[in-house]
Amino acid sequence: MSTKILVTGGTGFIGSHTVVELYNAGYTPVIIDDLSNSSVKIIDQIEKIINYRPEFHEFDLCDQNKVNDFVAAHSDIKGIIHFAAFKAVGESVQKPLAYYKNNFFSLINLLTAYKDKPINFVFSSSCTVYGQPDVLPVTEEAPIKKAESPYGNTKQIAEEILLETANANDNYKITALRYFNPVGAHSSALIGELPIGIPQNLIPFITQTAIGKREKITVFGDDYDTADGSCVRDYIHVVDLAKAHVAAIKRMENSKSKDKYEVFNIGTGKGTTVLEVIHAFEKSTGEKLNYVIGPRRIGDVEKVFGDATKSTQELGWTAELNIEDMMKSAWEWEKYINNNPF
Ligand code: WQD
Repeated sequence: MSTKILVTGGTGFIGSHTVVELYNAGYTPVIIDDLSNSSVKIIDQIEKIINYRPEFHEFDLCDQNKVNDFVAAHSDIKGIIHFAAFKAVGESVQKPLAYYKNNFFSLINLLTAYKDKPINFVFSSSCTVYGQPDVLPVTEEAPIKKAESPYGNTKQIAEEILLETANANDNYKITALRYFNPVGAHSSALIGELPIGIPQNLIPFITQTAIGKREKITVFGDDYDTADGSCVRDYIHVVDLAKAHVAAIKRMENSKSKDKYEVFNIGTGKGTTVLEVIHAFEKSTGEKLNYVIGPRRIGDVEKVFGDATKSTQELGWTAELNIEDMMKSAWEWEKYINNNPF
């Protein structure tokens, strides 16, 4: 039996793609998800892609007893990739306590359950910890800025919890991956981003506008100090991102990690403006997008893109897919989910 890796939040957008890439790399993924922000149908979709049905357990990681029972029954799990968390910036401002409770209780319950046995732990962190960086591209050594939202704060505090836990207990090897903007979908178009309600993020709003679910898309500001006035982000294909998690597990397994707690930027190193994304979508799909320029969105940073040199040199990982691949795969997924609603 190959090495078992627990994927919490494994029916989610990044989690499901990571389950596929773990299996492709020879691992046995095991999923825990409470389905609060995803569909159990994703398990069927994953099975169609890899021709293997991953073990799936539905429960809330905030329930310490359920976490302990699971760990006691699964002593053969050698690694954990922890995605399970609430992640909507705007919602976190409306419901801070729900975010702090869910995101910290689940993390602390998992860490506590594994305090007496060696475990490799990958944490889903975010470039939001950098705020508006002073220097671009932003490296892992950049200062952490005061979080702009409770969501961003949960990522910053979680990283501190992980560092202190790793330093206090030799059983843990921990890697935090700071994602930039994950977009796109698996080439099979069987899994992808499943926003609930009106999409908050750019790409699902683009694809839903193109398919006619939304009347138009508003570009939040074109008066920024950028090439065309719209905000700059580092968009990364979700499959490239998923492969970075496999690389992080492998690094810890091969005890190549220099420290017990390490941080890596997972981005392409390339900044793309909102208008460039829209034009890339139109060019790569042939679809015309109805967009208008509107006011800035509160809380948006003007420009952020990552320096992924450390990930390339130490994780042996580099993003391979470009913005056209991201747009085409997102569009194929939108057409699939529109014809096959979950
Ligand atoms: C991207 C750009 C918007 C919608 C999010 C998460 C963050 C992190 C990365 C996980 C911005 C513009 C958007 C629209 C627009 N994820 N936009 N019209 O805000 O960079 O960050 O992904 O860790 O936590 O919040 O992503 O997709 O919302 O916005 O003009 O209808 O697109 O202003 O410049 P963001 P986003």
